[in-house]
Formats: sequence, structure tokens, C-alpha cells
Amino acid sequence: LDDPSADPFAIAAEAASDIHRLTGVERHDIAVTLGSGWGKAAELIGETVATIPATEVTGFSKPALEGHVGTLRSIVTPGGKNVLVIGARTHYYEGHGVRRVVHSVRTAAATGAATMVLTNGAGGIRETWKPGQPVLISDHLNLTADSPLEGATFIDLTDLYSARLRDLARTIDPSLDEGVYTQFRGPHYETPAEVQMAKAIGGHIVGMSTALEAIAARQAGMEILGFSLITNLAAGIQKTPLSHAEVIEAGREAEPVISDLLARVIGAL
Ligand code: 6GU
Repeated sequence: LDDPSADPFAIAAEAASDIHRLTGVERHDIAVTLGSGWGKAAELIGETVATIPATEVTGFSKPALEGHVGTLRSIVTPGGKNVLVIGARTHYYEGHGVRRVVHSVRTAAATGAATMVLTNGAGGIRETWKPGQPVLISDHLNLTADSPLEGATFIDLTDLYSARLRDLARTIDPSLDEGVYTQFRGPHYETPAEVQMAKAIGGHIVGMSTALEAIAARQAGMEILGFSLITNLAAGIQKTPLSHAEVIEAGREAEPVISDLLARVIGAL
């Protein structure tokens, strides 16, 4: 993936065949990336067929961060759907390039998944949101100044975060709010001025993932559902300084509730 002359889709196809070989599962219907706070969903989605270390799959790199588990799991839902659970996210701020960031999404598509569920832990801009609250992603602002698309690939991003799937999620939890996810490069949190900028241009959620992955998923023809766990309010919106420990702790507290929600939504897909 670091070689610009290599074909990232061929590498994803190789990764999908590794997953087939290591899990025994030929095709997956749904893929879900578990961001910080969402990890417990894996146990609730269904019966685990196989768990494999991501490092055994072509193109996946070691997890860089606490709270991010470096495994891939194949799970069967009670309804008989095969779900690929991706617990190994490469963040853009790690600096390994956008191809590495979206490799898991391209691999998921190559395993056959038609639906991509992207989850993350993020900061909230809306004052009414509370830490521990899950929200649906309705659209995004990609402030990374990068794209997973290479060359003249002009794809449409209307309804990128499927309105149909958001409606379906609200049949499980009608109280789910939604907002526009703003991907910053990180790894620092935003300044209060940057948060005000994000708000002024239509953002409601600030984070460091997801938008680039959603673009790659759309390119691969997948239908996308996005969830953010609001782990804290963004800088200047909350009056206290932000800390990674606080983000992890909020994730830990909310985990049982949001994992149950996610598992039920996936069961309904
Ligand atoms: Cl406030 N900003 C970003 N970029 N990511 C976050 C966050 C804030 N809170 C949790 N993750």
C-alpha cells in the first residue's frame, strides 16, 4: 500500500482472500468498524465464527492506540447474516497515507459486504448533547484536504450516509439525533476557534476518522450507516479541557448501552 504503483484494490482482494482462508467464511453481507466506545457490540451482534489478528491480513497495520483492538471477527447474526467486525482502524493522523486508512473498507467490500457501518467516538458541538450519547451521522465535512480517490474519479456523494439506513436505525431507537460529522486531521483536538469554524460551516460533530472511509465505501458501491458516540463536548463548548482519558472513560461508561443499540440495528439490516 505504500508503493504508489501498486493497485490498492488488488491488495484489498488479497486481504479478502486471507479473511476467507482464516475464518472459513466465503462472503460477508455487512461490515462494521468499531470505534472507541463501541467495542462491546461484537459480543452482541451474534455468534463469533472466528477472530483473527489484523496483522495476519494483507495490508493491515498494527493498532496505534489504546482502546482500538487489532482484530477482525466474523460473526453470524441470529437472522443468518455474516458480519465482518473490524476492530483495527488506521487513522489518518498516523501519517501512513489515505490508502492505509481506507484499506479495511475496501477489504470489507471485497469480502462481499454491501453495507458499511462506521462508528467512532467524537466531540459534540451541540450544547444539548451529553457525553455518552450516540448520534447518527447525516453527512460530513472532510477537512483533511485529502481523498481516497486517485486520479479523475468524480463520484457523487449525495445521500452518502443512507437516509434509508438512518430511518431504519430510528425504528430501533426513535430518540436518535443526527448531525454532520467533521473530520479533522488531528491528532490534537481542535482549538475553540476551529470548533466555531466547524459550527459556522455546518458541522455538529468533530472527529478524526470516518469521512475518508465513507468516501471509499461509496466508491466501492456500499450503503453506509454512520454512528458517533459523543464522548465529550468540543473545545470551548465544554468549559473544561479535553483529555484522551476522559474520552476513553466516556466510551467505557456508554459501551453497554450503545453496543446493544448497534447490535440491534445490525440485526435489523
Ligand atoms: Cl473534541 N475532537 C476530535 N477531533 N476528536 C474527538 C473529540 C474532539 N472528542 C473525541 N474525539
